[in-house]
Amino acid sequence: MNLILLGPPGAGKGTQAKRLEESRGIVQLSTGDMLRAEVASGSDLGKEAKGIMESGGLVPDEMIVNMISSRIDQKDCANGFILDGFPRTTPQADALDAMLTDKGLKIDHVVELKVDDDAMVERITGRFTCAKCGAGYHDSFQKPQKEGVCDKCGGTEFTRRADDNEETVRARLKAYHDQTAPIIGYYDKKGVMKSVDGMAAIDEVTKQLEGAIG
Ligand code: AP5
Repeated sequence: MNLILLGPPGAGKGTQAKRLEESRGIVQLSTGDMLRAEVASGSDLGKEAKGIMESGGLVPDEMIVNMISSRIDQKDCANGFILDGFPRTTPQADALDAMLTDKGLKIDHVVELKVDDDAMVERITGRFTCAKCGAGYHDSFQKPQKEGVCDKCGGTEFTRRADDNEETVRARLKAYHDQTAPIIGYYDKKGVMKSVDGMAAIDEVTKQLEGAIG
């Protein structure tokens, strides 16, 4: 099964994608995570993306499209994948269509996590991640069971993203509404669009999502 999770920054795409990875045995493909890995490695792509990401803008379409196309070709995607953060513009959605047709693949479901913008600033500024295994947490909504210790791997180092400050979040929300939200209509016309209440508690969103994809 191949899925797209859509929603503004903080909607819970990454949180839910990780849960679906475990429940469905399919791979999360987060373009944000891939770009952050490029930035950390100091590659040319990373150097170009860094400033754009820190300002809350979108990196150029062709950069992303090539990156995701080669990732989908890797063996671990054979059982299916969850696109998290891609596509984010109509040209990206068109390019995805063409690329999947070439590869003999298709998207089975596109699920929008519907949320209120105002709540997203609190979600994002409270987010932190285990530096060792990447498990995601939140200062109020998803604390580790033992303070300072990762539930999954026992790690004790945590990181916060450079773009998780209020000013950048507002710019990211604007980019979402201007450039990404129009693709909801694009997938609606194809008859693959579903939506769930992303404002519900994390477990409830998972339940609705599992129901939506069957
Ligand atoms: P990216 O990494 O994709 O960030 P984003 O879309 O802004 O999404 P986030 O990761 O911030 O949010 P999320 O929906 O995954 O929320 P999460 O589950 O963590 O992109 C970063 C940048 O890279 C972009 O700005 C752009 O520059 C560039 N980029 C990436 N892809 C691109 C593309 N295709 N084209 C061009 N540029 C691209 O949840 C957030 C927090 O809330 C967590 O702490 C979580 O615990 C908590 N939480 C989650 N769900 C709930 C809930 N239901 N209730 C309460 N708390 C919750």
